[in-house]
Amino acid sequence: MKQSIIKIHRNLDIKNNFSDIKITKKLFIRTFGCQMNEYDSEKIIDILNQKYNLFEVKSPDEADIIIFNTCSIREKAQEKVFSDLGRIKPLKQKNPELILCVGGCVASQEGNFILERAPFVDIIFGPQTIHRIYDLIQKKLQENLPQIDISFPEIEKFDSLPIPHRNKSSAFVSIMEGCNKYCSYCIVPYTRGIEIYRPLKDIIFEIKKLSDIGVKDITLLGQNVNAYKTNIDNKIIDFASLLEYVHEINGIERIRFMTSHPKEMTNKMLDVYKNLYKLVSFLHLPVQSGSDKILSSMKRGYTVAEFRYVIDQLRKARPSLALSTDFIVGFPGESEEDFENTIQLAQEIKFSSAFSFIYSARPGTPASTFPDNVTYHEKQSRLFKLQEVINIHSQEFAKSLIGTKQRVLAENVSTRDEKQIFGRTEYNKIVNFTAPKSIIGTMVDVIITNVNTNTLNARLI
Ligand code: SAH
Ligand code: SF4
Ligand code: F3S
Repeated sequence: MKQSIIKIHRNLDIKNNFSDIKITKKLFIRTFGCQMNEYDSEKIIDILNQKYNLFEVKSPDEADIIIFNTCSIREKAQEKVFSDLGRIKPLKQKNPELILCVGGCVASQEGNFILERAPFVDIIFGPQTIHRIYDLIQKKLQENLPQIDISFPEIEKFDSLPIPHRNKSSAFVSIMEGCNKYCSYCIVPYTRGIEIYRPLKDIIFEIKKLSDIGVKDITLLGQNVNAYKTNIDNKIIDFASLLEYVHEINGIERIRFMTSHPKEMTNKMLDVYKNLYKLVSFLHLPVQSGSDKILSSMKRGYTVAEFRYVIDQLRKARPSLALSTDFIVGFPGESEEDFENTIQLAQEIKFSSAFSFIYSARPGTPASTFPDNVTYHEKQSRLFKLQEVINIHSQEFAKSLIGTKQRVLAENVSTRDEKQIFGRTEYNKIVNFTAPKSIIGTMVDVIITNVNTNTLNARLI
């Protein structure tokens, strides 16, 4: 067997009378975009693994099925998908049996227009129809016609997913789909639909199953997790209450979430930062801009002063809290002064890390029609200036960790050095340290010894 072929060994706990006649398939899957797509890709693999004797391959030319799980958040991400599809075309010509699937947010946004640019695509499915992937492949084989299903069949997706079984120490758990915020620049509400919350009991069931198989670090996923709400016995369960329930689960030692919105940081959220010790002291809270005029035009629903107030309160509730954020520069109408306000905010808050992007006009969003008189050159120069400020703070933060004791979840053997183990701090920083393999999957204490560009080195205590 070639080295790049990995058999997917999964104890799926599912009785299948046909297990001995499963067809062998080699799958190549490439995931673009956010953690929600990563979660979906894992689930797609699980679904196909139930149906086929599945091998995951590392190169598209070895595959029987190719899946691109795509992202359309910025134009560049979307165009990357089409250029990658162009590279697959000769493979399709060489092997007409090859099944080529496009899923995720580009599929949802573009639907059958994908076939205009790439007529050799066989299957187009959306973020909420991943559970139908096998049926779509079967239908394509029967009818020999491209299959498209980018509908939003409510919560059906989560009801149809296999139970988790992965042998890992950390895992994502999706708690909702979609977004209702409709920020004026953003495509997500159109590609992933309106907010739909998973029932509490399903979320708890999934996390308990993960805990049973050794998962210790859970990331609750959604575009807007602190908007979560559900109803049990006429009692409203909001995101803060959900965190309290997750906190009770034995075996789970760390709780993270991604992404929350500044507007929904309630007093109850401040209380959970005071009370729930499993909740990590690391929060990604996207601000986007430091100018009230731009925040209002983005329809973010808060002012810079309100954002500052939220940060102050959070830091009071949890003094060790490290913060990360997202910025968009060059939004239509952003003046030099607006941009300076963003720099000022970054300098004042000192985020431990931050992502920054040049605004990209997305089709069908309100902002794509706003007059934009800032040149691309100027936008690039603003991005560069902002990133300089961000880097200074993230390096300062990393350096402040030298000599400190950090609790680390040992994840696996380092890819660079067999004798080293890598793990993750609660701040989500990768740490390398020498240790026996037997500690993999456990929480250990280390002393940070030095800082590299993206990782830390440490000594096991
Ligand atoms: N739901 C999250 C983030 C979603 S997308 C939130 O609201 O915070 C991740 C990041 O991509 C956003 O925070 C934003 O900074 C960036 N982004 C979204 N749309 C964009 C666009 N049209 N152009 C440039 N960046 C964008
Ligand atoms: Fe997009 Fe705004 Fe929703 Fe985030 S909150 S996904 S930026 S619309
Ligand atoms: Fe991209 Fe869709 Fe996620 S647009 S960022 S993959 S929700």
